[in-house]
Amino acid sequence: NIELEKTKNRLYEINREAAIYFYKNLFNNGNAFKYLLNRGINEETIKKFGIGYSPDSWNGLLYYLKGKNYSEDELEKAGLIIKHRDGTRYYDRFRNRIMFPIMSTNKKVIGFGGRTIDINSQPKYLNSPETLVFSKGINLYGLNIAKEYIRGQKIILVEGYMDVISLYRNGINYCVASLGTALTTNQVKLLKRYNAQVYTCYDCDEAGMKATDKALDILKEEGINPKVIMLGEGMDPDEYIKIYGSNEFKKRIDNALSYMDFKIQRIKLKYNISTTEGKIDFTKNIAKLLKQFKSPIELDAYIKKVSEDTNISIEAIKKEVFNKEDNST
Ligand code: CTP
Ligand code: MN
Ligand code: MN
Ligand code: MN
Ligand code: MN
Repeated sequence: NIELEKTKNRLYEINREAAIYFYKNLFNNGNAFKYLLNRGINEETIKKFGIGYSPDSWNGLLYYLKGKNYSEDELEKAGLIIKHRDGTRYYDRFRNRIMFPIMSTNKKVIGFGGRTIDINSQPKYLNSPETLVFSKGINLYGLNIAKEYIRGQKIILVEGYMDVISLYRNGINYCVASLGTALTTNQVKLLKRYNAQVYTCYDCDEAGMKATDKALDILKEEGINPKVIMLGEGMDPDEYIKIYGSNEFKKRIDNALSYMDFKIQRIKLKYNISTTEGKIDFTKNIAKLLKQFKSPIELDAYIKKVSEDTNISIEAIKKEVFNKEDNST
């Protein structure tokens, strides 16, 4: 459909112009620039990611882009302006925010994430709406940059824009973020193209651990054998690397948990294995999970581990794994 392609190309153009506008404005606004410097981001990184600033104005971008002969209708389609309730005028969606352009792997600007720099304004992050060229679930933030550094080695999945950027700034340049949504099958398919060991490194809080749990299942379903980087103490990768540095972060990569180790750790939290009942329930639950193993060596290693944790004999756990009727998923 030629008409559709034309419209999409206009939206890519508009987004690029908007990114340039935000970028220029960053250097005109001392507070915004300082905000990034305070967070440890330098000019080289600002340039690399095209970070910008949307001024505290209701129509700065609107007038700027109208001046470049884009119509209000097109700007609305790009998700950059919003129609006022009274229907007579439009206003800028992004105001007084640090702007992160979201790019496709072929370096087109498809949307934006905007972080407030004013602690009183909500939400903390505002993203472009779904448009003809932007759909959250099929893109990964930072992949346009990370793809140059992955080289079949490692790729780290994180939660946020600032995690990707801060890790890059500290020399870990093979990270992508899933854009505030739960990881999707389409995103995993995108990852698979790079033939690298996939790691997750989500925020070390309950929300992050739950998201990890889900992400692992989706990765597994797509035939990926993921590892989990654990940071501890409620930190996210940005906070961690700022306090401990990139060498410590690399050690965390080397000590990443296997899928099964992470699952066992999660299940353990549900039971009090210092009691007999807790031990029994925990072991039964793990046995269901261990059924999935195809490799007898791996199975053996994990059975030993569970046996050590619970003092239940290897023999008994083995029987539980093999004899139970298969009603697990
Ligand atoms: N997010 C979002 N909308 C929100 C909150 C979060 O889209 N209201 C997404 C953003 O992509 C964000 C990610 O979820 O980067 C992780 O959220 P969070 O951990 O709360 O933010 P951080 O990335 O840690 O942001 P910062 O360090 O700037 O506070
Ligand atoms: Mn979080
Ligand atoms: Mn949060
Ligand atoms: Mn953070
Ligand atoms: Mn975070």
